[in-house]
Amino acid sequence: MDDPSTATLPPRRLAVLISGEGTNLQALINAQNTLSLPNTCIVLVLSNRKNARGLIHASTTLPLIPTAYLSLQPFLKSNLGKTLEDYNVEVAHIVLHAKPDAVVCAGFMHIVSEGFLDVFKGTRILEGKEVLAREVPMINIHPALFGQFDGFEAFQKGEVDELGIMVHCVVKEVDHGEPLIQRRVKVVKEEAIEAYEERLHKVEWEIIVEATWIVLDEVQLPLSSNSSS
Ligand code: GRF
Repeated sequence: MDDPSTATLPPRRLAVLISGEGTNLQALINAQNTLSLPNTCIVLVLSNRKNARGLIHASTTLPLIPTAYLSLQPFLKSNLGKTLEDYNVEVAHIVLHAKPDAVVCAGFMHIVSEGFLDVFKGTRILEGKEVLAREVPMINIHPALFGQFDGFEAFQKGEVDELGIMVHCVVKEVDHGEPLIQRRVKVVKEEAIEAYEERLHKVEWEIIVEATWIVLDEVQLPLSSNSSS
């Protein structure tokens, strides 16, 4: 929990990357500046889908949360000769501009490149950007237990009796980062998939906040305390 000696530090800054409904984002919005995420402020919501409802959550909450939208295909079409890696770099630029202390992928349907991750590790410096004072942790929520296959088909066939959710650190091997938190969710025989998903979502909303706090709490000195904005 927050140490009283850090109470005067500027808020910890969070960037959230989304693609869809944004219910996990909403959980983070509700938690910011509460006991669950003390002294924390969401400084950017970036979506790679224009119609992501999460963008509406961000722009209708008070205080307003800055949003950004950048989709791969339109980016490639309007920037002939640019590549997937250029897209990754552009997203990294937008996120870095917000000077986040941590980045949360909350249903972000884009596989980030190794080069993208290197930027946040601080081992790759983007043109026009300063050297990061330290690594910016990046986490992702994934609807499966560590090492588990995508369980929905097995669920529908009644072959498994528990599935789960994890929040893990983002690494170059997709969805294989070390779990910060994972929670098992029991499969109830003959339950409709919709009902199961609803139960799963409720667990997601808890653990995304808990995992975000784990990484933010490790951030002793927010990057933002060294910055001018
Ligand atoms: C969640 O189910 C998450 O596990 C998956 O994408 C979904 C995002 O949901 N990676 P939402 O956009 O936060 O409602």
